[in-house]
Amino acid sequence: MSFVSPGTAAEYDVRARQGLEATFDTPATGVGRAPGRVNLIGEHTDYNRGLVLPVALPHATYAAAARREGTRFRIASAQQSEVWTGALGDAAPGRVTGWAAYAAGVVWALSEAGFQTPPMDVYIDTSVPLGAGLSSSAAIECAVAMAVLGVTDVDLDDDVRRLVVEATIRAETEVAGAPTGGMDQTVSVFAAEGQAVLIDFDDDSHTAIPLPADDHVLLVTDSRVTHTLVDGGYAARRADCEEAAAALGLPSLRAATVADVEQLPDARIRARARHIVTELDRVTATVAALEHQDWARLGELFAASHASMRDDFEISTPELDLSVATAVEAGAVGARMTGGGFGGSSVAIVPTDRVDGVARAIDVAYAAAGHPSPAHLLATPSGGANYLG
Ligand code: GLA
Repeated sequence: MSFVSPGTAAEYDVRARQGLEATFDTPATGVGRAPGRVNLIGEHTDYNRGLVLPVALPHATYAAAARREGTRFRIASAQQSEVWTGALGDAAPGRVTGWAAYAAGVVWALSEAGFQTPPMDVYIDTSVPLGAGLSSSAAIECAVAMAVLGVTDVDLDDDVRRLVVEATIRAETEVAGAPTGGMDQTVSVFAAEGQAVLIDFDDDSHTAIPLPADDHVLLVTDSRVTHTLVDGGYAARRADCEEAAAALGLPSLRAATVADVEQLPDARIRARARHIVTELDRVTATVAALEHQDWARLGELFAASHASMRDDFEISTPELDLSVATAVEAGAVGARMTGGGFGGSSVAIVPTDRVDGVARAIDVAYAAAGHPSPAHLLATPSGGANYLG
C-alpha cells in the first residue's frame, strides 16, 4: 500500500534552495517551513467563535528566500508555472490574483503589521497535496511568513507567532479573498509534535491535546474531488450561520443552544445552525474520549459529525461518504469528512495493524463505484511552522 510521502525537512530544504538558485540565480539565505493540517473534529465552527481540533501534518510547504536589490519581489513555486513579480503595493488586496495572492499577500500583511519586508526572491516547494482540503494555502502563507521573518532576523516567540497568524489570515481573507475562519493558520503556526491543538475562537486560546501514539494512526484519504474555498459554497454556509445568529439576537452561534436553534423558522438556516451547535458539543466530547482512549465513543462522535455535515450542513460528496463508510466497515474506529467540504479529504482513526487493509478497501470501493483512485496519507501529528535557517 502506498501513502503520499511527506518527505523530510532536510530533503525539502535542499529542494527549495536548489529551486531558488535555478530560478533566480541567487543562493538562499534560509528556508521557512509550515505544515498542512487535518481537522479531527469541529468543522465550520471557527468562524462561529467555536472550537476546533486540528492536527498538523508531516506534509509541509517550504519557502527558500534571499534578499535582493531594487523594489520588487519575485516569487516562484515548483508547483506553478508562473513567476509573480511585483513591489509591496502590488501585493495589496485587489491587486494580485491566483496562487500568488497567498504568498505575496503575506508579505503585504506582514508589512501592515509593522514587520520589515525588504524585496526578496522566494521559491516554494511542498509535499502538501493541493486542493485536498489539507490547507495547502495556509501552509504557503505560513512558510512564506517564516522565510521573511527568518531572513530579516526576527526571533520567533509566541507574540510573534500570534502576529504571524493574524497576518496570514489577512492574506487569505483580504488578499486571496477566501472568507475562511483562521483554524488553518493557527494550527500551522502553533502545532506541537504528537498533539492535536484545541483552538477556542471565542478567546483565541489554544491547548495541546496529546494523541495516543502507538496503537492507532490517522489515515487521511484525498477523494481527489477538487475543492476551492473561493467558490460560493463556503461563503454561503458562513452567511447562513450569521443569519441564524442574527435571528436569535446572538453575537455568534457559539452562544446558542440546541433548543434555541430549533426555534428558527427557516428550515435551511435551522439545519445549518443545528450542525454548528451539535458540532461544538462533539468537539468537547472528543477531547474527553481521546483522554480516556474511549474508541467506541470516538467512533460515535465521528459518525455523528459526518452525518451532520452531510445532512444539516450539506457539504459532503458521494466520494467522501463512501470513504467514510468503507473505512468504518474495514475496521476504522471512526471516520468523517474533514475540512471545508465540497470535496477534499476524509480522516479515519485506525488501529495501526489495520491501516493497509482500510486504505485498500477504500481503493476497491472507489473503483467499484467508478470514482477516480483516491490518495492516502498518514497524518503523524507534527510540529508547527519554523525557520530552518
Ligand atoms: C477551511 C477553512 C477553515 C475552516 C474549515 C472548516 O479549512 O479554511 O477556516 O472553516 O474550512 O472547518
